[in-house]
Amino acid sequence: MAHDIRRINDDMAAYWMPFTPNKAFKANPRLLQSADGLFYTTTDGRQVFDGSSGLWCCALGHNQPKIVEAIREQAGKLDYATSFGYGHPAAFELANTLADTMPGDLNHIFYTNSGSESVETALKIALAYHRLRGEGQRVRLIGREGGYHGVGFGGISVGGMVNNRKFFGAMLPGVDHMPLPYDERMHRSKGQPDVGADYADQLERILTLHDPSTVAAVIVEPVAGSNGVYVPPVGYLERLRDITRKHGILLIFDEVITGFGRLGYATAAERFGVEPDLITTAKALNNGTVPMGAVAVQSQIYDTFMEAGGEGVEFFHGYTYSAHPLAVAAAQAAQALYAELGAYENVRALEGYFEDAMHHLAESDVISDVRNLGFMSALTFKRIDDKPMSRSSQIFGRAFENGLKVRLSSDNIAIAPPIISQKSDIDLIVDRMQKTISDIG
Ligand SMILES: Cc1ncc(COP(=O)(O)O)c(C=O)c1O
Repeated sequence: MAHDIRRINDDMAAYWMPFTPNKAFKANPRLLQSADGLFYTTTDGRQVFDGSSGLWCCALGHNQPKIVEAIREQAGKLDYATSFGYGHPAAFELANTLADTMPGDLNHIFYTNSGSESVETALKIALAYHRLRGEGQRVRLIGREGGYHGVGFGGISVGGMVNNRKFFGAMLPGVDHMPLPYDERMHRSKGQPDVGADYADQLERILTLHDPSTVAAVIVEPVAGSNGVYVPPVGYLERLRDITRKHGILLIFDEVITGFGRLGYATAAERFGVEPDLITTAKALNNGTVPMGAVAVQSQIYDTFMEAGGEGVEFFHGYTYSAHPLAVAAAQAAQALYAELGAYENVRALEGYFEDAMHHLAESDVISDVRNLGFMSALTFKRIDDKPMSRSSQIFGRAFENGLKVRLSSDNIAIAPPIISQKSDIDLIVDRMQKTISDIG
């Protein structure tokens, strides 16, 4: 439908909304007024279940009293402190907490303000690390088709979502992409597909083409999220780890979505038993309450910077708001709550129930595939008249009217409830989705 921008809600014109069809939205807005627990309240007073945990970030739901209190208290105590040449104690304490939750030797934490910044940071650490070790020829980066690594130029270069790239020029030089490990054999798999580990061998092919000694890092989402929840085949990530290690290439897991409980563990690395060299996080780090990200780095990489850096600045990188006191306070509170509420254990206990619920929904004949792991799932909707997103976008809009917030990504609807959700919450998702599917047909 065409929308005349000048005639739509003039008072909404000033706000240029991100990743949103502005004209359609402003003609028919979905406005959230407040949130508490697992529900949003809309401006017209309706309760909407948060089936996408905000944007994969509000793992503990909303308005958690201990997080709210931590932010309030911090705002009155130390509202801002620069991290360039100064510090504040809580930033160091939180780094220790996070290092303890990271697997193996990922013992050092670099703070950012978003997932995109975590990705840019990790890519720069990888390039600088090799240069400091005398391997400055390692300038190439390998990502994956369909990958989402945020919106910085590094992230869209290694990323593989076409619309996020095609408008923005030639990208970083020296980047190549592996295929997404997904094909028809994996349709309707429950959890990890048991075929497809050999997709990892494509990395060897790409490395041979470029000469492995020119490659700095490989970056993947352990479970691809934004593109529509693609779960790695059994053995795939292990093989990527073996190949990168063999060639002295760093492996980066982008855990901006999978970090902090989505898969029932602090990290996907822990769940899969595969230890990368760097892990990027954001989102659920502090339950999405204050913008924040963090990159966890192997000791050996950190030590290289410390040794090579002499007396001066070892890494010429950082953000005005790195380790912002409000974000740090919120993160400490969120991390404590994950343990106190047994939130990761809850996902492990209920992921089978969630899986059955999603596969039950997918029995509808308008759905062609379903994928899931932990509290992360996506349903692929068949197109109407072969038009991309024709059915999924209608489902997205109607679900909201039926009291369910989900995430739309091309023909996929992602469902990722807060990790403290109970069986009755999963039942509610199923009821509202079923109604939505039958409304749209
Ligand atoms: C895997 C991954 N990396 C990076 C990002 C970017 O995060 P942000 O939107 O906080 O910049 C996202 C966001 O969804 C993501 O899923």
